[in-house]
Amino acid sequence: MLARKDILKIKPYIPGRPIEEVKRKQRLKKVIKLASNENALGPSAEAVRAIKGALGRVNRYPDGDCFYLKKKLARRLKLAPKNLIFGCGSDEVIVLAVRAFVEKQDEVIIARPTFLIYELVSRIAGAKIKLIPLKGFRYDLRAMKNAVTPKTKLIFIANPDNPTGSYVNAKEVGEFMRGLPRGLIIYFDEAYYELVEKRDFPDSLKYLNTHNVIVARTFSKAYGLSGLRIGYGISRPQIIDYMNRVREPFNVNSLAQAAAFAALDDKAHLLRTRRLIKEGKGYLCRNFRKLNLPFVESVTNFILINAGPRARKISQRLLRKGIIVRDMRAWGMNNFIRVTVGTMAENRSFIKALKEILRRQG
Ligand SMILES: Cc1ncc(COP(=O)(O)O)c(C=O)c1O
Repeated sequence: MLARKDILKIKPYIPGRPIEEVKRKQRLKKVIKLASNENALGPSAEAVRAIKGALGRVNRYPDGDCFYLKKKLARRLKLAPKNLIFGCGSDEVIVLAVRAFVEKQDEVIIARPTFLIYELVSRIAGAKIKLIPLKGFRYDLRAMKNAVTPKTKLIFIANPDNPTGSYVNAKEVGEFMRGLPRGLIIYFDEAYYELVEKRDFPDSLKYLNTHNVIVARTFSKAYGLSGLRIGYGISRPQIIDYMNRVREPFNVNSLAQAAAFAALDDKAHLLRTRRLIKEGKGYLCRNFRKLNLPFVESVTNFILINAGPRARKISQRLLRKGIIVRDMRAWGMNNFIRVTVGTMAENRSFIKALKEILRRQG
């Protein structure tokens, strides 16, 4: 056998379709992408300025340590630079955690459905995967805790979760953490952290000194820098040190570092982003109710809709009209569509197209 046995069961990750591909294949001039939970507002103007300023130096390798960015972010988080590691997107932080800590046959506990990369990366490592079903579209932390055995090495918790947009609160996390065995890693994936406006959202950083916790966040969502690929992990220095040993030396490019550094200071952009999502989500949910489409209450910038058995048809027809949403078959959720909150104009175009499709379907 040419390929490693562990990778034979893996299905390649299918991302939301790129705008250019849909334009080309559907022969469309205008395409709206509501499929990958990106920031519809665009990047911060400050970040764009910083990128332009850094362009002339791309003949040099980037700072492999992300020194300035690390220093700034550490100060913001009231932590030390040695508590941080940067990745090529927070996706890479998942890879680094698995690479550093998961041995073949170690158990990894993952919810089902949730962000697909956890399972993909764990399978590559040859881990034994325990999938714990969601309960009412939310993580069932009790069941996840009950699944822990002496062989468990890593537990992934997407909070808020993707694709549901639901979250687990401080009390639930507190109960979950109490009495967990010491020899395992709890990975809180907080890719949408900056978008959550819930008072009972857990402060996962408070567990840094009591548990083996990795908290991952990103510049892809609230900060609008998905295309540059930069995210980070927060943990105890020892855990960060282990992850650094398995990191490629120049995993975060220099434009991403410059953009993230500037974006951290652009509070107005973050506020505008939150406002746009709030308004858009309100508009979309009102319309889903009118259309009798059940959906999951979301604390993020996307909404999971139950469109019934016609879900796939609907997403295909939307695509023909130049609107990309996420068909949820890859998650095994054949009746569902996930839609990212866009600009108000994009949201209106989506609802208009959806209404036309539903009307025609009767
Ligand atoms: C839950 C979750 N984690 C991580 C990511 C990866 O984000 P990035 O690699 O762009 O930081 C995503 C992106 O959709 C996500 O939804």
